[in-house]
Amino acid sequence: MKNYLTLLKNHSEVLYEHSLRVADLSNIIGSLLGLDEDILYRLQIASFIHDIGYIWFSEKALAEHMESLNEKEKDPLISIHLKRLEEMFFGNVLMKPYVDLALNHHENIAGTGHFKKKVLTLEDNILIISNYIDENIVLSGKQETENIIEYLEKNAGKLYDKNVVNAAIEALKIYYTEFDNGKFSGLALKSKTINLRYEGLGKN
Ligand SMILES: [Fe+2]
Ligand SMILES: [Fe+2]
Repeated sequence: MKNYLTLLKNHSEVLYEHSLRVADLSNIIGSLLGLDEDILYRLQIASFIHDIGYIWFSEKALAEHMESLNEKEKDPLISIHLKRLEEMFFGNVLMKPYVDLALNHHENIAGTGHFKKKVLTLEDNILIISNYIDENIVLSGKQETENIIEYLEKNAGKLYDKNVVNAAIEALKIYYTEFDNGKFSGLALKSKTINLRYEGLGKN
């Protein structure tokens, strides 16, 4: 696993840190929902690899992709990074449970996601929402939580599992903290991530 993380880190620091934050957020959501350790572990590994298919793109293509995150579902890079993910682990029985979970991160329960899957597990929902949250809070550069919370509440039961949404909103408030004004706007990232801290990268 470490090798895949190194691969990701060497290619793109942004994607690497995003993946670690998605892992953290998934872990917090899963813990709030009282999920078992083995499920939390599966979520962690799936989070680490979910965007690994992007290592086949240049930094420039990735940067452009980040800028157009709003129209992300139409972006051809979505389709390609999922295909690459599948190819990279093709025939790898050990990685299959994690790859299967990671492949669903652009779905939703309304069936309007990338593969149009409707039947999604709790784990799928957790990874989907964690990825959505970090993309829109951090990768978008907006660093705002209010509209994300509003969006999630509006789509609870429609695009995403209701219980996961509730836990995710709670997790989001724990994980992405405010600067100094006591409101969830103008927030800063809380000391990088739990996973980053494990690696001793949390302090500049
Ligand atoms: Fe993705
Ligand atoms: Fe992602």
